[in-house]
Amino acid sequence: KKIVLAYSGGLDTSVILAWLKEKYDAEIIAFTADIGQKEELEGLEEKALATGASKVYIDDLREEFARDFIFPMFQAGALYEGQYLLGTSIARPLITKRMVEIARQEGADAIAHGATGKGNDQVRFELAAAALAPELEVIAPWRMDEFRERFPGRAEMIAYAEEHGIPVVATAEKPYSMDRNLLHISYESGVLEDPWFDASSEEMKDMYLLSVSPEDAPDEPEYVELEFEQGNCIAINGERLSPLGVMEKLNELGGKHGIGRVDMVENRFVGMKSRGVYETPGGTILFVAHRKMESLTMDREVMHLRDSLIPRYSELVYNGFWFAPERYALQALVTESQKNVTGTVRLKLYKGNVISAGVKSPVSLYNPDIATMEADPAQAYNQNDATGFIRLHALRLKIASGVEQQKK
Ligand code: ARG
Ligand code: SIN
Repeated sequence: KKIVLAYSGGLDTSVILAWLKEKYDAEIIAFTADIGQKEELEGLEEKALATGASKVYIDDLREEFARDFIFPMFQAGALYEGQYLLGTSIARPLITKRMVEIARQEGADAIAHGATGKGNDQVRFELAAAALAPELEVIAPWRMDEFRERFPGRAEMIAYAEEHGIPVVATAEKPYSMDRNLLHISYESGVLEDPWFDASSEEMKDMYLLSVSPEDAPDEPEYVELEFEQGNCIAINGERLSPLGVMEKLNELGGKHGIGRVDMVENRFVGMKSRGVYETPGGTILFVAHRKMESLTMDREVMHLRDSLIPRYSELVYNGFWFAPERYALQALVTESQKNVTGTVRLKLYKGNVISAGVKSPVSLYNPDIATMEADPAQAYNQNDATGFIRLHALRLKIASGVEQQKK
């Protein structure tokens, strides 16, 4: 048997690697997607081999992640439950896509992941796999009684790792779990499980890796200009950048000014609520800038139609339906809606805030000659027309009101 494992180098996936190899007498191919998790990638190949992998893939998917996943999602204006920019949710389909490619190339029978049986990630991995490679078996050790009985706690995992010569890093375990990529870091569980626990307090300062806290941000604001073409940011401060370059630059700027921290209780797809803390510095700037660009260039009805679909789109991404027909259909509408979302947005970054400081576009729909309160040089709008417009809209309200009066 041959199994491709989504491997991070942490204790869980290391133990899973060795355990799968033993249990199935299988050849294990370790796969790690580089989607911008930085330090977590150092020494990974040696570690996977030392743990028993027969082959290791560490693939740089950062540009693809930004271009084909983050950017289309930001064109849609996706935001889950009004707060979460979906940093983990959007990464899972890409990881799975590459994982099943490798599985096919290697002639593997199964893919395996280390997501727990209580979370969203298992669903995202497995729905993506079902859509892309239905023939592959999926192994989720955390959902197997045998595995959970063997490893009731961290102590058993460490003991197992030591017995199997798995290099365990001696760093103290953090009192929460993290997931990092180009778009965000998420923190959950452990001390964060109590929603009354203040994650913005002084004692939690060291948790945050992408941003300073707003109170520690510079006292001087900083201006930034984002140039958009058809809903995608293509340049920052006049410098043309790839999607990856855009995300890196915005993360640096946002992090410096304490932008993009969110602390929320969210609804997991599997039915429970969970508390999550997020740092999304660059994504937050991009989100605000994109909406600002749309405000000048997007038709009202197109905007309101697209806006009505944001909760649906966000739910699809959160729940793991990226490679589903309804997501493709919505994406086609989003792409069409972005045709004229072109121009430049200027923002001011200051102590956790993203402040509007100007917008312009060669295809602006905003016409000051029509909107002005002064005499109307465009002659496009006749104020007398508004009388009939209001009268017809008022008609049904008057009729309904009359009926109410009669009841009294
Ligand atoms: N709650 C977020 C989500 O569902 C973050 C999940 C983080 N995943 C992880 N394996 N730490 O998208
Ligand atoms: C996990 O349970 O593996 C992480 C949290 C989540 O997927 O929601």
